[in-house]
Amino acid sequence: MMVRSAALLVVLVLCADSQDYCYHEPDCDPYAWGDFFPSCHPLLGGHHSPINLDHHMVRNLSLGLLHLEGFDETQTGQWTLENDGHSVLLQVGSGMSVSGGGLPGVYHTVQVHFHWGDPSTNGSEHTVDGRRYPMEMHIVNMKSIHPNVSAAEEDPTGFAVLGFFIDVVYADNVHFSHISQKLSSVAYRGQMTGIKPFPLLSLLPKLNMSQYYRYSGSLTTPPCSQAVVWTLYEVPIYISWSQLAQFTSQIFSTEEDAAQVTPLQNNFRHLHTRFSRTVSASRDARLLRGTADPLTLLSMRLLHIVVLGQFYL
Ligand SMILES: *[C@@H]1O[C@H](CO)[C@@H](O)[C@H](O)[C@H]1NC(C)=O
Ligand SMILES: *[C@@H]1O[C@H](CO)[C@@H](O)[C@H](O)[C@H]1NC(C)=O
Ligand SMILES: *[C@@H]1O[C@H](CO)[C@@H](O)[C@H](O)[C@H]1NC(C)=O
Ligand SMILES: *[C@@H]1O[C@H](CO)[C@@H](O)[C@H](O)[C@H]1NC(C)=O
Ligand SMILES: [Zn+2]
Repeated sequence: MMVRSAALLVVLVLCADSQDYCYHEPDCDPYAWGDFFPSCHPLLGGHHSPINLDHHMVRNLSLGLLHLEGFDETQTGQWTLENDGHSVLLQVGSGMSVSGGGLPGVYHTVQVHFHWGDPSTNGSEHTVDGRRYPMEMHIVNMKSIHPNVSAAEEDPTGFAVLGFFIDVVYADNVHFSHISQKLSSVAYRGQMTGIKPFPLLSLLPKLNMSQYYRYSGSLTTPPCSQAVVWTLYEVPIYISWSQLAQFTSQIFSTEEDAAQVTPLQNNFRHLHTRFSRTVSASRDARLLRGTADPLTLLSMRLLHIVVLGQFYL
């Protein structure tokens, strides 16, 4: 998740040697982020992201389809695609919002970005039963009552991020070409290019959008604010091997004129502990229909009572 690129750019310009974060050098990798961004320290009981999604879930029948306002329309104006050295970000302007599906309010859509691995390893941030997908796409939305990013970061539900796993098949995803066609223009850090708006819905899975998981977590990039209502969709987006390779081998974390060119790879934060958080499965979720449905939990507890004669509900 990266919502601060604009703010970060300002900081970088004002103070060129201020500490930036990275993914692979020991002094600035995700384990060191807390040294410069205290809120990235994974304190005991913290609500950090990403996490592994496992069968310890509770189904919540009130979690139905989200309302994706404006996602099926072609927005006016110009969008921009940008390489900020940590990811490729699509800034989508105004005009879209998400609500419903148990979200506590209306959230304006701000940007879309990606996390990926390298040519031989997968790079989604969340994992499903220990499985890491090749990529993960995040649609970042900010609660509309907040005037700015800093205000949203102070609110435990300040952001709603929609996470989509990206898996690989042989056929190109024609809708994804809106982005993949333009990737070579943002190969190097700091590069930016215009993109003609397209219906964002065309990037998303056509079916089964009511199947998702929900939990409270954090931004997965500094300042790692614990301010995110996460929605992770079960059904992945499919792209081709060559579309995947454009991310894993043709995007760089360094500027075009850098002495040493470094590919931007494995730009995902390490997994965090769930602690006491509840992960909910939507009404229609299927994959991880858990061993921890309320009824199962209840019957296990009853079994304990019967077998052990103990009362520790
Ligand atoms: C189900 O989700 C709704 C909407 O997020 C929430 O208000 C409610 O507390 C949840 N119920 C349970 C049992 O977690
Ligand atoms: C990586 O992704 C591929 C393609 O989806 C999958 O077959 C494989 O199991 C994944 N590997 C890991 C370690 O999760
Ligand atoms: C963000 O909004 C809050 C609440 O209105 C305000 O107090 C704060 O000064 C704003 N911060 C910035 C950086 O604009
Ligand atoms: C998508 O939803 C349909 C209808 O509910 C179901 O039959 C199908 O198994 C679902 N697909 C996946 C991949 O979950
Ligand atoms: Zn992200």
